[in-house]
Amino acid sequence: MPTLAAAEASNAGFAPSYIPVAVFAGGTSGLGQGMAEALARQTKGRAHIVLIGRNAEAAEKIIAGFPKPVGEDKSGWAHEFVACDANSMVAVRNVCAELRSRLKRINFLVLTAAGPRANSMTECGETAEGLDDHLSTRYFSRYVFSKELMPLILSAREQGQHAHLMTVQGAGFGIKIASSDFGLEEARRSSIKFLGRVFVSITAMKAMVRGVAYNDGLVAWFATQHPEIAATHINPGQVRTVGAVIEGGWLLGPLFWVIKRLRNLITVSQDEGAQYMLHGLLDADRGFFIRDMHGDIVSAHVFSPDYKARFTDDSPTARKAGYLNGVPIQGYGGSDATVAALMEYTERVLAEIK
Ligand SMILES: NC(=O)c1ccc[n+]([C@@H]2O[C@H](COP(=O)([O-])OP(=O)(O)OC[C@H]3O[C@@H](n4cnc5c(N)ncnc54)[C@H](OP(=O)(O)O)[C@@H]3O)[C@@H](O)[C@H]2O)c1
Repeated sequence: MPTLAAAEASNAGFAPSYIPVAVFAGGTSGLGQGMAEALARQTKGRAHIVLIGRNAEAAEKIIAGFPKPVGEDKSGWAHEFVACDANSMVAVRNVCAELRSRLKRINFLVLTAAGPRANSMTECGETAEGLDDHLSTRYFSRYVFSKELMPLILSAREQGQHAHLMTVQGAGFGIKIASSDFGLEEARRSSIKFLGRVFVSITAMKAMVRGVAYNDGLVAWFATQHPEIAATHINPGQVRTVGAVIEGGWLLGPLFWVIKRLRNLITVSQDEGAQYMLHGLLDADRGFFIRDMHGDIVSAHVFSPDYKARFTDDSPTARKAGYLNGVPIQGYGGSDATVAALMEYTERVLAEIK
């Protein structure tokens, strides 16, 4: 486990010969903000940093605090905000198309936005586009960002530069990916009015857990489709961000009241958490990674040069949870069969959103 000093020392070694392009979807507060700020400090502002979110005012303040290169530096650095409600897949696609039209590459794509219901254990529902509102931002939008911006990540790799897709959620728990009702439509339907609060809570908690497992699946999918890049699911642990207040509601309210009082003992600050996450981001070349709250590797798999992705039933481990294309992966809950089914479902529902 690296200490904070070790993570900072590791980050301090980051001195690329090119201007890194880093996109933080969820960069206007929390860990995305902290990572963007740490990267800006490390590069002395000589980076192209894109903060994606809804809050323009917060973004302007963050960008104003970034160090700026001195003099007539024409190296291509830029610090900018791009507005996007990641709860809408149409909006995410539009933003990605706009970025593709003007960026030549992305070295780091960091996905942290958790969305409206992310922390509610008692509420659930659907977005205007018909997606589960726990999963819309923390899973579906991350899938769309990853897919739509992948050409730019691959372009960075082709130029021999860092090329890393990272999603910050809840890695390492080895939660199995469900094999049916992926979008929880059935679970929501059966959250009947009578005793509704209990059923809705069960569905909300199910959605929270699914979000974690689906991020395993997302990273497994993109890592295997594009083994030349790094793809990471990382667990931040407990970090004192503005958004990190889990609402126990009527169900677990009293328990969470106690937890809030103990918060400082069991959490790290946003800046500290961000240093660990940045360590995980910068300290990777290629392959599939599950990382912990210190940015340390829980498990990793680097693919051989002749690797071909297989998500078919002909492998003896295709239906075994914790195996990725025949390789056992600690802290990973997918199986090739469930990842393939999840991706097929994801593509199908996204195709219906126009
Ligand atoms: N912090 C923790 O202790 C902890 C623990 C376990 C897991 N996690 C997970 O780690 C990730 C990052 O956590 P965090 O605490 O940094 O989260 P956070 O503070 O809730 O993240 C806030 C960021 O997400 C953006 N966001 C939220 N809804 C959005 C939407 N609809 N469209 C676009 N952007 C949106 C916000 O931007 P705008 O407000 O500008 O839209 C802001 O930039 C989350 O997925 C969280 O579930 C966190």
